[in-house]
Amino acid sequence: MSLKEYMQENRGRIDALLESHINNLPDSVEPKLKAAMRHGLLLGGKRVRPFLVFVTGKLLGADEAVLEGPAAAIECIHAYSLIHDDLPAMDNDVLRRGQPTVHKAFGEALGILAGDALQNLGFEILASHPMPEKLLSNKVRMLQELGEASGYRGMCGGQALDLEAEGHKVDLEGLLKVHRHKTGALIRCAVRMGALASESLDGAAMKALTEYSEAIGLAFQIHDDILDVTSSTEILGKTAHSDENLEKSTFPALLGLDGAKDYERKVYEKAVSALAPLKGDTSLLSEFAEYIVTRGN
Ligand code: IPE
Ligand code: IPE
Ligand code: MG
Ligand code: MG
Ligand code: MG
Repeated sequence: MSLKEYMQENRGRIDALLESHINNLPDSVEPKLKAAMRHGLLLGGKRVRPFLVFVTGKLLGADEAVLEGPAAAIECIHAYSLIHDDLPAMDNDVLRRGQPTVHKAFGEALGILAGDALQNLGFEILASHPMPEKLLSNKVRMLQELGEASGYRGMCGGQALDLEAEGHKVDLEGLLKVHRHKTGALIRCAVRMGALASESLDGAAMKALTEYSEAIGLAFQIHDDILDVTSSTEILGKTAHSDENLEKSTFPALLGLDGAKDYERKVYEKAVSALAPLKGDTSLLSEFAEYIVTRGN
């Protein structure tokens, strides 16, 4: 199966899974809150993080039914991070995945609350997901890693650095720190949770996969920065040149477009070489690294 077919199949599976989680919310949930959660979680999205959970887990022989828990959980956290990222107090964006942002469609208060609720839903899904006895301690580790990757040590910490870096130039080291936290942490976590779903995980595999995940996580945000300046609102489904308007610290702003592309290529090569020690067929992971740095949206 080609990467494209595999990603498409994965998107169908994760969409159905997320849809069922939203449909299972009790009738007592305030209807506007439920609608805002649905809007932020289900209307589009590439589903990159769940894809990584599934591909990594399957490489190490994990059971697909087990992988559904961390896959759905991380997408809920990601959706929450986007809803809050778009809020007026943060990037103040009106378009996301080709739709009005959640706060545009439902108001700012519901944007805040839908984000909060999706964050908690992510942890609830993972904590209550059935796993075999042998994997229960790994499930606790997944919960711990998801908490670390989404909070002050990961995504939230990176978002604070990103806002702090608006309007002035940070050096390369500072920018790497922003990107590794705001975007890299959740991508790293997706890969590591996939690995933790395997009953035969060993330290060497975890080390190689972690190195890979850190490289693709960084490449993912560098490419996002590049697309902001090279693509269009129509193709992106979010407002192009948003970073420029907000005077964000980005790779193209720091290194120029060609410099950013060269840097991205080096990070891509690092990702691919990190896969070398792994047993089994890693071609989907290496093709995925290529996809990250060539994707159009
Ligand atoms: C956008 O993430 C925000 C970043 C971390 C760069 P994605 O590009 O994965 O967004 P969706 O989920 O496909 O909309
Ligand atoms: C997103 O960074 C990081 C998150 C944690 C959501 P951006 O602000 O560049 O993401 P987009 O471009 O709005 O999707
Ligand atoms: Mg942002
Ligand atoms: Mg943004
Ligand atoms: Mg961006």
